[in-house]
Amino acid sequence: MSAVWGTVASTARRGYLGAAMTETLPADEAGIARAAAVLRRGGLVAFGTETVYGLGADATNAQAVAGIFAAKGRPRFNPLICHYRDAGAAFAHVVAHDAARRLADALWPGPLTLVLPRQADCPVALLTGAGLDTLAVRVPACATALALLRAVERPVAAPSANRSGRISPTDAAHVLTELEGRIDAVLDSGACTVGVESTVLDLSGSQPVFLRPGGVTMEAVEALIGPIARGVGEGGAVRSPGMLRSHYAPGLPVRLDAHDVRADEALLAFGPGLGGAAVVFNLSEGGDLAEAAARLFQGLRWLDAEATRRGLARIAAMPVPDTGLGAAINDRLRRAAAPREE
Ligand code: TXA
Ligand code: MG
Repeated sequence: MSAVWGTVASTARRGYLGAAMTETLPADEAGIARAAAVLRRGGLVAFGTETVYGLGADATNAQAVAGIFAAKGRPRFNPLICHYRDAGAAFAHVVAHDAARRLADALWPGPLTLVLPRQADCPVALLTGAGLDTLAVRVPACATALALLRAVERPVAAPSANRSGRISPTDAAHVLTELEGRIDAVLDSGACTVGVESTVLDLSGSQPVFLRPGGVTMEAVEALIGPIARGVGEGGAVRSPGMLRSHYAPGLPVRLDAHDVRADEALLAFGPGLGGAAVVFNLSEGGDLAEAAARLFQGLRWLDAEATRRGLARIAAMPVPDTGLGAAINDRLRRAAAPREE
């Protein structure tokens, strides 16, 4: 346990200090093998896809995924796309119905991302999907990316490899401009052929919804599964993930900035806990923000279930510093605490 934390915490910390070297790896057998080894031990590797370069981490390793958010300087935990070697591997982790299979048969590998319900035994870390019950999956078309995914033998979580709020990189030099010193390596497969991100289609509800226009046209999707309602605004789409009905919020109310814990509350602790709570989940006893990020969604789910089972009324959340990954943790806690809309 502590060895794992050592690696991951140092990856995340290095992100802030910007001190370490980022290796550039060639897209040959040795480069791909090295990139895969770095990913398997919890490191961060940017790699080219046909759309844009992604910043990859082992999707089953929450601490590694926390490192992505730290490196990007993301102020919130957006759900990330999970990249798979083929449709069979993807559909082992999400529940695919007919329409999903038809789209995958025709358009994968390629720039289409499908949002589907997680399988009950899905090993992908909750942080990867920002705590949602759904997961975005895609099989990229770039040969180097596919070779990397085969070598890693695990799903790879990857947002675009830019700093938060900047444009997506389409070659290895762009990635270095954005993230040099903040990530372990970039696997250089040359310029991306598509150059815009994948189309994101939510198939998890009763009706399909386009969440983002992208590399596969909406018409190509509709030709396979029939007409799809477009959201408001021109060019179709877009509902932000924060507004999706499925966005996870605990069933119990959350009280923020708790410096004490009341008799009817369960405690989400950070650092040295507070006495007096019967039900406690500590995000990080040592006050490590990367550890806390990795455990946040797991902790909220566990507390919600356990506190409900014991008849408690509320989750009290201790304050978390608002620096680095703390900003994303606090964003998520504020959303969890916000009054519900129906
Ligand atoms: O082309 C691409 O899609 C690139 C390459 C690297 O694959 N990746 C990419 O990732 O653009 P990112 O994180 O920049 O954008 C992912 C989009 C976001 O808009 C996110 O909200 C949405 O996918 N998304 C991911 N998981 C979701 C989920 N479970 N439900 C709804 N939206 C989701
Ligand atoms: Mg992006």
